[in-house]
Amino acid sequence: MLRIAVFGSGRGSNFLAILNAIEQGSIPFASIGVVLSNNSSAGILEIAQANNIPAVHLSQKQFGSEEEFVTALLTLLRMHDVNFIILAGYMKRIPPQIIREYRNRMLNIHPALLPKFGGQGMYGHHVHEAVIAAHEPVSGATVHVVDEEYDHGRIVLQGTVPVDPGETPETLAAKVLAIEHEIYPEAIRMFARDSASAKLM
Ligand code: GRF
Repeated sequence: MLRIAVFGSGRGSNFLAILNAIEQGSIPFASIGVVLSNNSSAGILEIAQANNIPAVHLSQKQFGSEEEFVTALLTLLRMHDVNFIILAGYMKRIPPQIIREYRNRMLNIHPALLPKFGGQGMYGHHVHEAVIAAHEPVSGATVHVVDEEYDHGRIVLQGTVPVDPGETPETLAAKVLAIEHEIYPEAIRMFARDSASAKLM
């Protein structure tokens, strides 16, 4: 059974797609324990509140050191029995201790076909601008395991979209986002199924 914490900094559309999939019963063996944002006015927190899911504003800026922040974060995750973390538009670096604690149990989604167009600085419209500038015929989204390097861990699932003539970063972003909303719930379904079958053995 996956007990999930979702970390996000903005809009929260991936979180909403995942939540809808859980509520419709298409991701058995998974529930959302808590939603966390470094940004107190993030849409992702509003979505959580509207759905009666604990929504927490937690930022390193509230603490004197990274160590204190990590302690507060781990306490929060334990309080909600979290055994799996999903990054959904989370714009802050994850402290190494959290990566270690949730090794192979933390996923991220990136709006391009990794390993291309990833790494520091490759976020939001920068990604789609780079894809168009490189004349790539195809783009897409990647769900991957989080490790110590940005956009680097094992690739779990990818979905593709064509880059059409006359494509702009805005039109490409919209197509990629639609595919994100399909593959992120699917990737979580795979992990939830594996965690459930591991418990049965
Ligand atoms: C998505 O494009 C995702 O690939 C990237 O951040 C964006 C988050 O969007 N990591 P949303 O907050 O889920 O709507």
